[in-house]
Amino acid sequence: MIPPFKIKSVEPIRLLPKSERIKRIKRAGYNIFKLRASSIFIDLLTDSGTGAMSQEQWSAMMKGDESYAGSESFFRFEKAVKEVLGFPFVVPCHQGRGAERVFDRVMIKAGQAVPGNTHFDTTKAHIEYRKGKAVDCTISEAFDPETDHPFKGNVDLKKLEFSLKNDDVAYVLLTCTCNSIGGQPVSMANIKAVSRLARKYKKPLFMDGARFAENAFFIKKREKGYEKKSVKTIVKEMTSHFDGMLMSAKKDAIVNIGGFIAVRDKGLYEKLSQMAILFEGFPTYGGLSGRDMEAIAQGLYEGIDEDYLEYRTSQVKYLAEKLELFGIPVLKPVGGHAVYVNGKEFFDHIPQWQFPSQTLAVELYVEGGIRAVEIGTLLAGRDPETGENIYPELDLLRLTIPRRVYTKEHLDYVAECLKKVWERRESVKGLKLIHEPKVLRHFQARFERAEDVNFEKKLRKK
Ligand code: F0G
Repeated sequence: MIPPFKIKSVEPIRLLPKSERIKRIKRAGYNIFKLRASSIFIDLLTDSGTGAMSQEQWSAMMKGDESYAGSESFFRFEKAVKEVLGFPFVVPCHQGRGAERVFDRVMIKAGQAVPGNTHFDTTKAHIEYRKGKAVDCTISEAFDPETDHPFKGNVDLKKLEFSLKNDDVAYVLLTCTCNSIGGQPVSMANIKAVSRLARKYKKPLFMDGARFAENAFFIKKREKGYEKKSVKTIVKEMTSHFDGMLMSAKKDAIVNIGGFIAVRDKGLYEKLSQMAILFEGFPTYGGLSGRDMEAIAQGLYEGIDEDYLEYRTSQVKYLAEKLELFGIPVLKPVGGHAVYVNGKEFFDHIPQWQFPSQTLAVELYVEGGIRAVEIGTLLAGRDPETGENIYPELDLLRLTIPRRVYTKEHLDYVAECLKKVWERRESVKGLKLIHEPKVLRHFQARFERAEDVNFEKKLRKK
């Protein structure tokens, strides 16, 4: 599909010589988070805050009202949230996790549970920080990379009802699309059923809506009865089943920073805005500048534009199909914001304790200066009780596509580089952890190239 925009402002990128890339990744302890941006040619680390803003967003920013209280930009932002999402009350926050912190402080008491589909890592961390428990009720199909289910983000209603019956539930959370299992959408039928169940047990239902627009677009494309409905209508129908929504605006509102909590209930809004004053800022700015709120307000409308969504999802699909053509194993079906390569299968000779997907991240950088991110054993960390590595079912490399940033030529290059690694895969050795922080180890961990597998196995047995 032809991009529904043309390029007005450009940012140069440069490919360093291979010898330099080898040096830099070694210096970074084979951790892509430790590379400077200038060392990278194509950055597929995340789609968060990395989108290209439009001329309308940039010009809206010039109208930013930076008043501490009662900013006019806040009212334009509030109007956009109301029009696009249908929630009457909104608390701006500096980003998604800022919203999570404020929200969970109000909503969770120690020992309570938050069931839903797979929670994003910061979401889970915030629930646990409040001494709560995130209960994963995602359908089992989601954990099989080969199953072609159209809505792998769906909740298994039996698992959810079990949690509602047996746990002290604070609230139910549906992440749309579900990032941690591959950017997979939740169907409208599932949203409705989850909402019915939550109401039966008198529990509120919230959406982690960072990628709500992509979710709505998949409903239009994949769910019977929605083909002719506009994304705008589908979004409103989705949100009508929720009591509110947490939003990292860095995704589907296509801004570089920002987030919010939007709710239906005035009483809850008042509690949240009190807490926001403590952690984020006065309720008409909440950690954002007036300029930021203007950009989000405009971005919310652009995020649900159907030409844009068609282009965005087709771009992700294009890359996945190209990789599949080369025989490279990718997670099926293609999600909304990223292509996930099955690292465990790619390097089937590298055991999970030598981090196959992290190894692939390193090889892809060496091959073409491309940065992608491991969503696997490194990210999963260790079991807090046994201290053993957690070996997740899905060990993946996420090629995350920023919004409106890279062209088809960039994606062709990414695919060609992965193909070259694929062709020499058997000669690639895994990685050995040499430094590991206790919390969120993936950001700071350091590695060495591993010895051969048998040697490592012997060491491990000792
Ligand atoms: N919820 C979901 C579903 C997310 O994907 C993210 C962030 C957050 C919440 C937290 O929002 O970053 O604004 O604080 N995901 C990014 C990613 C970081 O790379 O997937 P934040």
